[in-house]
Amino acid sequence: MAKRKMKFVCQECGYESAKWLGKCPGCNSWNTLVEEVEASHSNNRHTLSSGLKTVSKPEKITAIESEKEPRITTSMQEFNRVLGGGIVPGSLMLIGGDPGIGKSTLLLQVSSQLAEKQLPVLYISGEESTRQTKLRADRLGVTSDLLYVLAETNMVDIATQIEEIKPSFVVIDSIQTIFREEVSSAPGSVSQVRECTGQLMKIAKTNGIPICIVGHVTKEGAIAGPRLLEHMVDAVLYFEGERHHMYRILRGVKNRFGSTHEMGIFEMKEKGLREVMNPSEIFLEERSQGAAGSTVVASMEGTRPVLVEIQALISPSSFGNPRRMATGIDNNRVPLLMAVLEKRVGLMLQNQDAYIKVAGGVKLDEPAIDLAIAVSIASSFRNQATLPEDIFIGEVGLTGEIRRVSRIDQRVQEAAKLGFKRVICPKKNLDGWEVPKNIQVIGVDTVQEALEVGL
Ligand code: TYD
Ligand code: MG
Repeated sequence: MAKRKMKFVCQECGYESAKWLGKCPGCNSWNTLVEEVEASHSNNRHTLSSGLKTVSKPEKITAIESEKEPRITTSMQEFNRVLGGGIVPGSLMLIGGDPGIGKSTLLLQVSSQLAEKQLPVLYISGEESTRQTKLRADRLGVTSDLLYVLAETNMVDIATQIEEIKPSFVVIDSIQTIFREEVSSAPGSVSQVRECTGQLMKIAKTNGIPICIVGHVTKEGAIAGPRLLEHMVDAVLYFEGERHHMYRILRGVKNRFGSTHEMGIFEMKEKGLREVMNPSEIFLEERSQGAAGSTVVASMEGTRPVLVEIQALISPSSFGNPRRMATGIDNNRVPLLMAVLEKRVGLMLQNQDAYIKVAGGVKLDEPAIDLAIAVSIASSFRNQATLPEDIFIGEVGLTGEIRRVSRIDQRVQEAAKLGFKRVICPKKNLDGWEVPKNIQVIGVDTVQEALEVGL
């Protein structure tokens, strides 16, 4: 018998080392190297049962049919959009999210919708028994005959079943529970996850079956264990939201077949997840009108403009070091915009605490939200409210200039649709598009000008 080779593998990034190290040279995390037995890479490494073994040959690129592969669409527009128009046959997707956020619910609903379209679906649960899955299915009102459920964690058996049923869509819930016998480490370890994902990838590609993997998220917010999982798959989606809020956001962070940064919004109801088609309305629902420190911005989330409220609270600091805190936007932006307001507008902010919050639990990372943040800060500082029908769009530069943003027409349209009366936006954005009738667009060149108009 060949000698079993031992190695140390970082459980965060997959770095391999022959000896134990306290600090991983790959990702600099401490105490993450764990001893594992190297998988026996004998010649039948990825040979499953016969049907899935194919030998690929190089082809001329001109000879390959550029199939206009029709994507498989679900009845949930929000889900389709995040994937770039639907599920691509043969793709491997990963959905990450905190436990209890609704990943299993979402995928069971998607599976059931596909099954109702006469596409056989195999839902493999390594976490719940078939009976538990059935309970959930009853709650969601799943009735289709073409939805198969399997409670299994052994990768070889899973592969056999996929081959037997030949489904049009497979769900693996979750990758951290699946294992291959020849890999000695525990399910969920880097080696197991890598080997199993590799095999699933092979099954997806050779058979053209789209497979969706569920991955749990660690406290730090990364998909548990291996970052490398994200590199292996075609698309990575995150399902997030506050557990105590009803709203859930599905966000694409990687997509080989479409744009990322698309966002789908769902609401968790008694009978499962329901899509939210008009996100701006829900994000503005709880806005307190006429309060100082609140502004609304139209931010592009993928291809769709979403109106969101930005709140600021500026209050005198009681300690030497004023605090600057932000939720929903990049923390570094707040001091930067405050410095601009101080230097270019003359607001004395250096001895003030600043708290910035994007209402509704959304995360914004577009430069076009700068102006709204700056106006919120000034509004709270001066204790002077902006008009509730105003909306602020624009990137702020370090000299206090307002810079052009993308897709201004779509943003203004969305604002007009929701009854806003004035848009304060970059002057350089004013040309080349048609302003909707019921809204006024005011172009500004500097933060100072914007404050004169808006406050
Ligand atoms: P679940 O899909 O099990 O989460 P995950 O797979 O991400 O761990 O979601 C569980 C939560 O969703 C649980 O707190 C109950 C809630 N829920 C509803 O509110 N309505 C429903 O119809 C279902 C099925 C679950
Ligand atoms: Mg689950």
